[in-house]
Amino acid sequence: MSHDGRENEPGGRTSPSWGSYRRSIGDRTSLFGALRTEWAPMKALYPGSYLDLSPSTAIPSVTYVDLDRRAARYFAEESIVRAEIEGRTQPGAGTDIAFHHADYTKPLPIPLANFDLLISLYAGPVWDHCRQYLAPGGLLLANTSHGDASLAALDPSLQLVAAVHHRAGVYRLDTSDLDRYLIAKRPTAPDADAIRRQGRGIAYTKTAFAYVFRAVEDHR
Ligand SMILES: C[S@@+](CC[C@H](N)C(=O)[O-])C[C@H]1O[C@@H](n2cnc3c(N)ncnc32)[C@H](O)[C@@H]1O
Repeated sequence: MSHDGRENEPGGRTSPSWGSYRRSIGDRTSLFGALRTEWAPMKALYPGSYLDLSPSTAIPSVTYVDLDRRAARYFAEESIVRAEIEGRTQPGAGTDIAFHHADYTKPLPIPLANFDLLISLYAGPVWDHCRQYLAPGGLLLANTSHGDASLAALDPSLQLVAAVHHRAGVYRLDTSDLDRYLIAKRPTAPDADAIRRQGRGIAYTKTAFAYVFRAVEDHR
């Protein structure tokens, strides 16, 4: 293994890891640290995670799901995953790291209503396909990139509880005056089917990196 936790492949190439991925997308440790400070989630599900191991720095149990073979190869190397997370976790975090090499649009071999955080970042309509795994009162972290936050905003079973901002590598939550968020720039009413077809979110008057929603138990 190389000094930064990447495994050397024959021919001198290195296989991608959280370390190499973090160097390209930035470190999201402070994002999950902020979620922990506010709500202390214990069990998260991350469909379309690729190599983003950052939730395990703050959350005790995280189940990662991805179709990508590089992600499957990385998570299969438990010693590399452990080496990469070591020294980066908050107390009690990162104890249970599971990975499923699977398509999240198909039924997953995990219990229903069992997670208190569902993570949807740049990975398609996770909420449409994985809502059944979220426990009542659980949280959805979603961004607008592939339209998921915009679909969530239209879902009466979800309530916005925070906006996530990202600046100079640091993430923070805004939980105040949430009515300022998720206001469409265009006057036409947002249409969930159009968002799904286009795989793209709505442009809002006030931007944020992502949003946190709570699944409300009785929304009628
Ligand atoms: C752009 S990457 C984003 C990775 C990570 N969520 C992040 O924010 O850095 C999207 C990932 O979602 C995965 N993905 C897309 N559709 C999927 C599906 N139906 N089932 C499982 N994984 C999927 C892809 O394989 C890819 O690794």
